[in-house]
Amino acid sequence: MSLERTLTVRVERISRETPEILAFELAHPWGRALPGYEAGAHIDVHMPGGFSRQYSLARAPSNAVSSYVIGVKREAESRGGSASMHERVREGDLLAISAPRNTFPLREEAGHHLLMAGGIGMTPLLAMAQALAARGASFTLCVFARGEDHLAFADALRNPALAPHLRLHLDQGDASQRIDLHALLAERAPNTHLYVCGPGGFMKAVREAAAHWPEDTLHAEYFAAPTDANTGTGLPFTLRLAQRGISVPVAADQTAVDALHEVGIDIPVSCQQGLCGTCVVEGDGEGAEHRDFCLTGSERRHKVALCCSRAKGRELVLQL
Ligand code: FES
Repeated sequence: MSLERTLTVRVERISRETPEILAFELAHPWGRALPGYEAGAHIDVHMPGGFSRQYSLARAPSNAVSSYVIGVKREAESRGGSASMHERVREGDLLAISAPRNTFPLREEAGHHLLMAGGIGMTPLLAMAQALAARGASFTLCVFARGEDHLAFADALRNPALAPHLRLHLDQGDASQRIDLHALLAERAPNTHLYVCGPGGFMKAVREAAAHWPEDTLHAEYFAAPTDANTGTGLPFTLRLAQRGISVPVAADQTAVDALHEVGIDIPVSCQQGLCGTCVVEGDGEGAEHRDFCLTGSERRHKVALCCSRAKGRELVLQL
C-alpha cells in the first residue's frame, strides 16, 4: 500500500474556537502558494505520534491559496489524532499533509443548496457557504450547536454575506429558534440538494428525516464510518483487471487493496474506512457491494472504493 505524495506546511496560527475546538492555519514554509481546492475539500494531516487524519478546509478557496484553515475537535474518545493535534502541535511546527481532495463538492446542477452542519461538521459547509455567497447562489446554512460557546468559526458566521442565509439552532438557546429536522426536510423544494456533515447521531437524524429525498440530491461527509458499518471483509471474490487482462483473487479476510498489493499493484489509501475517496478507481460499480461513504449514487455506477467495497457476486471488473 502507499500513501499519496505529501506537502510540508508550517503551522502559522492556532486559535481556540470553542472549549473543544482549535483552528489551525497552515501555510507553505517559505510563503509560496499552496495547491488550490474547491469548497468541501479535505486534507490528510500526518501528525506527531504517527497518526493521520482527514480534516475539511474551513474557508472558501481563493485564486492564490496562501494558507489552509482546519478545525480540530478534541474527541473524548480520541484514538490519538485529535489529542495529538491539541497537545503536541504548536505554532511554527512543520506538518506533512496531502494535497486537498474533494469528495464532497457543491453540485453545479442544484438550484438551491441546503447545508446542514452539526458541531465541528461546520468546517466544509462554512467553506461551501462562503463560496456560494461569493457567487450569489441560492443557499441556506443550518448550523446546530450546543450553545453560543460551542459555536466554532462564529466570526465567519457573523459575516454580513452569510447572515441572510444562516439559521442557527442552539440546544441551550431559545426554543423558538430551534430547527425541527422533520418539518424542515418534509418537503423538498424543486432542484434542492442537501449537504450534511456532523457527528454520527446528527448525520443519522438528518438522513432519516430526508429518507424520501432522491438519493442523488443527498451528500454527506463523514468523520468516521458509522458504528454499524460493514467491515472490509466478507466472501472471497476475484478482481478482473480489464486493462492488464489478469485476475486477482481476494480472500475472505482481505480487502481488494491488500489483494492488489500482494501482486505488486499499489492503490493509494488514506482513511481505509471508505470516507476519503483516495482508493477510488473506475470499474463496474453495478457489480460492487459498495461499503463506502464518499461516492454518490451515480458515481457508484462506475466507481469503486477498494479499501472497503467487495463484489456482489464472484467477480468485480476494474479499469486497472
Ligand atoms: S482509503 Fe479512504 S476511501 Fe478508501
